[in-house]
Amino acid sequence: MQTYVKGSKITGTGHYAPERILTNADLEKMVDTSDEWIVSRTGIRERRIAAPEQACSDLAHNAARAALEDAGVKAEELEAIVVGTVTGDMQFPSTGCIVQSMLGATNAAAFDLNAACSGFVYSVSTVHAMIASGQMKKALVIGVDLLSKIVDWEDRTTCVLFGDAAGAVVLEACDRGEGILGTYTRSDGSLAELLYVKAGGSRRPVSAETVAEREHFLRMKGDGVFKYAVRAMEDAANRVLDSAGLTLNDVDLLIPHQANIRIIDAVAKRLELPKERVVVNIDRYGNTSSGTIPLALDEAIRAGRVNKGDVVLMVTFGGGLTWGSILLRHT
Ligand code: UT7
Repeated sequence: MQTYVKGSKITGTGHYAPERILTNADLEKMVDTSDEWIVSRTGIRERRIAAPEQACSDLAHNAARAALEDAGVKAEELEAIVVGTVTGDMQFPSTGCIVQSMLGATNAAAFDLNAACSGFVYSVSTVHAMIASGQMKKALVIGVDLLSKIVDWEDRTTCVLFGDAAGAVVLEACDRGEGILGTYTRSDGSLAELLYVKAGGSRRPVSAETVAEREHFLRMKGDGVFKYAVRAMEDAANRVLDSAGLTLNDVDLLIPHQANIRIIDAVAKRLELPKERVVVNIDRYGNTSSGTIPLALDEAIRAGRVNKGDVVLMVTFGGGLTWGSILLRHT
């Protein structure tokens, strides 16, 4: 158990996914792929794609409004807004600041956190520590990505995998031992070349040359990420359970990062959790990066799959590489 003066609990959840649905049949017309390959290798049947005029803050704002309403919290009550994303509206200011303005959260600090697909888990872990240390009482965490804006739509090895979505949670102070029972975060930057966008930062600023070389698009060595992901997620699950003095028998629901149904199945098998205790929605959304876990959490709660007192285990991994977990007793 981490030594904090307070605890923090999730008091509201919300999500937003763009209206436009891109099916595997649509992709068959765009690149050399097939519905059969995509479903059998990934479990994805369709994904949501943001409209050209929609940016990160638009999706985040919609999810945030839903979470605030669910929690019965007014925007002015928030003391922090943290957005886990790698597809912010622009380099700076942060999307957190843009959302802060959209919400009218006049008393909140705001920033973004870059941990790729682990952005939501890292952000909750950070905000949990801020609340549990007594620094603040109410905050908003958003996991959001629009990878459709940075995938190479001519690269069949990546463009079939990703979708756009946002999920949000309101975190509020509570007694220690309630709500979030533990978090765990880790990284291994020596594996950065498995998943990255080469150009657009200070190492390789955007230029006519980088655009011609298509270096502003996401690149991934999928098999390398796959191998690492299963082991990392299993480890993150066990470590957060150990830190809270619980075991897998105590877990009512596993919410894994939705990157590939074969990864999800492999993790569930290693953890010996039956299918009915694992949340899967990758078939409808694809991999929405930082959006997957808060989106799945919100859907599971609204579908009545999470009851008061249930223990929910969330595990993730992503570019960096980064990985981590959250253990929650739902209140
Ligand atoms: O959120 C974290 C981000 N990343 C991930 O989680 C990704 C983790 N990795 C994966 O999910 C899988 O590795 C992929 C789904 C990306 C790929 O599955 P795989 O079973 O590892 O396939 P592969 O990369 O080994 O490719 C097998 C074959 C290749 O053809 P050859 O070289 O054997 O002739 C690919 O060119 O499948 C081909 N292929 C495709 N075929 C049809 C790759 N993409 C496609 C495609 N449609 N979209």
